[in-house]
Amino acid sequence: MEKVAMSDADYGHLARAMRKVEFFAPLNVGELEQIVKYIMLCRYKPGETVFHQGEPGDAFYIVYDGAVSVRLKRYIFLSKTVARLGPGDFFGEMALLSRDPRNASVVCEEATRLFVLLSADFSFMLKKNPAFAEEMKKLAERRKFMSRQQSK
Ligand code: CMP
Repeated sequence: MEKVAMSDADYGHLARAMRKVEFFAPLNVGELEQIVKYIMLCRYKPGETVFHQGEPGDAFYIVYDGAVSVRLKRYIFLSKTVARLGPGDFFGEMALLSRDPRNASVVCEEATRLFVLLSADFSFMLKKNPAFAEEMKKLAERRKFMSRQQSK
């Protein structure tokens, strides 16, 4: 993983990507601008693991470009892909909301750039935006349910 310096165009892209994501909808332009300041852009190689299932959560991610797969452990060596996420999609909210370990591994399927928001900034953002926090909790619950179904 390599941290990339963000250009104005990247910030513009991020603001647009955020607007497409349903739960950012309650935020106005000023609030979005506040959040954008805390975000880093990181580059990953094809096949690189963003994090492993079972690790503690330290960040929240939005896909800028490329694609990642969300993989659940089945047996010691086997895993099952439960979702593929692309530009504008996000992941990593569950461990930050629940303080449980990561409930799945996330692996880059191709060269991928991710916007990364560290846990402390994510929490700050949730505190400032109760509507956003509510949306995020609902989505985490839906994903937890889907993962439980798919791991059967
Ligand atoms: P977290 O548990 O922090 O780390 C793994 C992430 O994968 C999890 O947060 C979610 O963001 C994401 N995730 C888990 N299950 C699913 C699913 N069924 N569909 C989409 N994303 C998921």
